[in-house]
Amino acid sequence: ADLYGETRKNSKGVELGHAASRLALVEGMGKFSLPLVDAKPLGAGLSFKGAGRAVLSPVDGRTVVGSVADTPLDQVGAIFDQAAKGFQRWSRTPVEERAAAVSRLGDLLEANRDRLMAILAREGGKTLPDGIAEIREAVDFCRYYAAEARTLFGEGTLMPGPTGEENRYRHRGRGTFVCISPWNFPLAIFLGQVTAALVSGNAVIAKPAEQTPLIAYEAIRLAYEAGVPQDVLFYVPGDGSVGAALVKEPRVAGVAFTGSTETAWAINRTLAEKRGAIVPLIAETGGINAMLVDATALPEQVTDDVVMSAFRSAGQRCSALRLLFLQEDVADKLIDMLKGAAAELKLGDPADAAADVGPVIDKEARDKLLEHVAVMRTSEKLVFAGKGPQGGLADGFWVAPHIIELSGPEKLTAETFGPLLHVVRYKAKDLPKMLDTIAATGYGLTLGVHSRIDATVKTVVDRLSVGNVYVNRNMIGAVVGTQPFGGSGLSGTGPKAGGPAYLTRFALEQVVSINT
Ligand code: SER
Repeated sequence: ADLYGETRKNSKGVELGHAASRLALVEGMGKFSLPLVDAKPLGAGLSFKGAGRAVLSPVDGRTVVGSVADTPLDQVGAIFDQAAKGFQRWSRTPVEERAAAVSRLGDLLEANRDRLMAILAREGGKTLPDGIAEIREAVDFCRYYAAEARTLFGEGTLMPGPTGEENRYRHRGRGTFVCISPWNFPLAIFLGQVTAALVSGNAVIAKPAEQTPLIAYEAIRLAYEAGVPQDVLFYVPGDGSVGAALVKEPRVAGVAFTGSTETAWAINRTLAEKRGAIVPLIAETGGINAMLVDATALPEQVTDDVVMSAFRSAGQRCSALRLLFLQEDVADKLIDMLKGAAAELKLGDPADAAADVGPVIDKEARDKLLEHVAVMRTSEKLVFAGKGPQGGLADGFWVAPHIIELSGPEKLTAETFGPLLHVVRYKAKDLPKMLDTIAATGYGLTLGVHSRIDATVKTVVDRLSVGNVYVNRNMIGAVVGTQPFGGSGLSGTGPKAGGPAYLTRFALEQVVSINT
């Protein structure tokens, strides 16, 4: 039982270590034929006809996974009109009904697992372990926020005060929330934002990433099936111009955004320039995430944890390890072990049971990463470059794992969103200086520490304002309700997704004082 006296369980996993269960999954995914989804804007009062743009798979750059009709900008006003009406009813709907719908959505996600897995692999390049983890996270968000909402949005709390007066403190929905989500967790983060806003009593206008509209469309259809009304949830696919038009609307009550720091600044600017309500921005962005390894760390464990943290999901997690600090006495040995382990990773079609690393999301991402490697190759030291995929996939957007040794930590000046690991050697006496460099990046998302010395761990953890710190383990895959996720500084505004304070930021606080 937890803080609230409830027992919460996270969603069930799949034993992917067993060849038989991997194959069963691949077979299940194979039952759905292409094109998988033809998506168009959804929500009350919207009707769109006509062909959309093709969504191509990053795996080979040509397979048509489906199509999407983007939202015409002149529809934005009408969508807000509908949402305003939906909000009036939804915010007064008993929380139990809202929570039940969101919780049912979790069940429907589980029931549709194989189809969702097929879309995640084809559209998002998600390997089997990544696809399973993503669906589980989405399910967990549904159940966790449903449970949290039941506590937060009940009758409220009676505050102490003079007799003859009743002071009730309560939470309720704010209005119409705009949710803008990234392609790297196109189901989990998309639904995390949407379900938090919905269960809190808001109407929601959800814009998925331009690269991954199809999985989001499926999720919205399942949300309707679960009982979320069509006038409180709108699916508005499109590029950045759609996002910008939504944020600019005077009737926005709040914005939840996950993506680049650059876009978070732009949203903040737009919100600040409007002469209207001052609305909250919940932003979760990136990081130049570091891991420190001292001479007392266990080399095999470090190797496993670094490979997982840097290369899993092709490094396309905001939590991923970018900058690894190795104490000089153990650096040579660890670099050798890392090269060996990275060489074992198999790049391949993510829908194939044997693939460890899938493609990166698109051509732009691939070109940017390869350009970074080309620059680093001349100014720093490239210690490892992995092999590309085999057989027929050459046109896909592939970036093999790379390890680059830097002459100093300051040489990495921006987040590299892919499977590129940068390594720096440090002398034990220079640890404080290394910590200053990490702090100076201004980011504060994740941090890894490998050390058997408690005092070192404490020094590192206390020095850095980082949202999620992982000691003697890998630093990705935060679990809903267990490791609430999110950072500070350039990495975001908080509150933490999957944590006990998340819903409060989607809610309005109200106090009703009655003279009795
Ligand atoms: N929440 C993810 C993780 O912890 C990152 O986006 O890996």
